[in-house]
Amino acid sequence: MSEQPSNLDRVSRRGLMKGSAAGAAVLPLAARGQEIRPAAMERQDVPVQRIPVTLNINGQARELVIDSRSTLLDVLRHDLELTGSKKGCDHGQCGACTVHVDGDRVLSCLTLAAQVQGRAITTIEGLAGEGLGGEGNLHPMQQAFIDNDAFQCGYCTPGQIMSGVACITEGHAGSEAEIREYMSGNLCRCAAYPNIVAAVKQARAEMEG
Ligand code: FES
Ligand code: FES
Repeated sequence: MSEQPSNLDRVSRRGLMKGSAAGAAVLPLAARGQEIRPAAMERQDVPVQRIPVTLNINGQARELVIDSRSTLLDVLRHDLELTGSKKGCDHGQCGACTVHVDGDRVLSCLTLAAQVQGRAITTIEGLAGEGLGGEGNLHPMQQAFIDNDAFQCGYCTPGQIMSGVACITEGHAGSEAEIREYMSGNLCRCAAYPNIVAAVKQARAEMEG
């Protein structure tokens, strides 16, 4: 089921500060492209420390014991089997891993799971129960992607949808140009961009009434 080995199994690749997740930031999309991993993360000899965490994911408290250096993306995909959030680049450059933390879009591949305890995390799996979608219904953005044929292979789609929702709630969907600008952090290899923009426009109309 897993598409790539977990960070929990690849601890030598991503050493972080010994014994603590402190000091690392929950990085918004704006941080993309910056060098964000401290040199210590590349160390080969940092021992594993497993820590208990409670994460509020899609309205549920999930208690886990994780490697303190685990990213939110790897915990979602490998520990919780919430595989809707995709791993594209794992370096903050493609947007496939976008989730919401307290309503803000965040790249889960650059976010330490331990650092988002106590915050409301929403993944694509939890979106349908939010807002206008209501329990059991698709979120207007999900429906808009279907209506506008806004995906081909679909790999980037969960991140596109999460980013599209935030684009609207941030007030950055006022025009096609603005939508393109504020969705530019989400890459689509299939180049479905015109239909994605159309989907965001449709969803904006529904979300804003
Ligand atoms: S997998 Fe996170 S930005 Fe590409
Ligand atoms: S639909 Fe295939 S990468 Fe976007």
